[in-house]
Amino acid sequence: MIAALSLVGACADKTNTPRLIAGGDPSRGLAVIEEVGCGACHDIPGVGWPRGTVGGPLKGFAVRPLIAGRFANQPDTLVTWLKDAPSLSPASGMPTMPIAEDQARDVAAYLYTLDDH
Ligand code: HEC
Repeated sequence: MIAALSLVGACADKTNTPRLIAGGDPSRGLAVIEEVGCGACHDIPGVGWPRGTVGGPLKGFAVRPLIAGRFANQPDTLVTWLKDAPSLSPASGMPTMPIAEDQARDVAAYLYTLDDH
């Protein structure tokens, strides 16, 4: 049910404009990404090493309409996903990450700088 509602939101959002994270700091977000090792599973622009392949590349994530192909790519949903992906998608291969709310906001702010270029 939650997923279905999220998808309705995604269909309504056709703007693909950059999304802003209130209080999120992209440069702190990159530091968090390196500290907790998101690169172990993802190829992330700005992260030289590692470049894992488990979770797929995050280049262009800012202009993708959905998170993991299922949830509207909106700030609050992304912050929840980054902290605790299994709470949205229990079968997800993305684990709960040991980051606090403010760190997740910073990471989300960084991910929203990743356009297609
Ligand atoms: C143990 C491996 C692993 C780690 C560590 C990990 N992820 Fe993931 N991540 C995944 C997998 C697998 C998916 C795909 C999940 C799905 O489709 O259900 C995913 C999906 C995602 C997505 C959605 C991507 C898309 O194409 O829509 C984002 C964004 C993301 N991860 C960011 C992060 C960030 C940021 C970190 C660090 C805080 C991180 N991940 C750590 C495995 C991981």
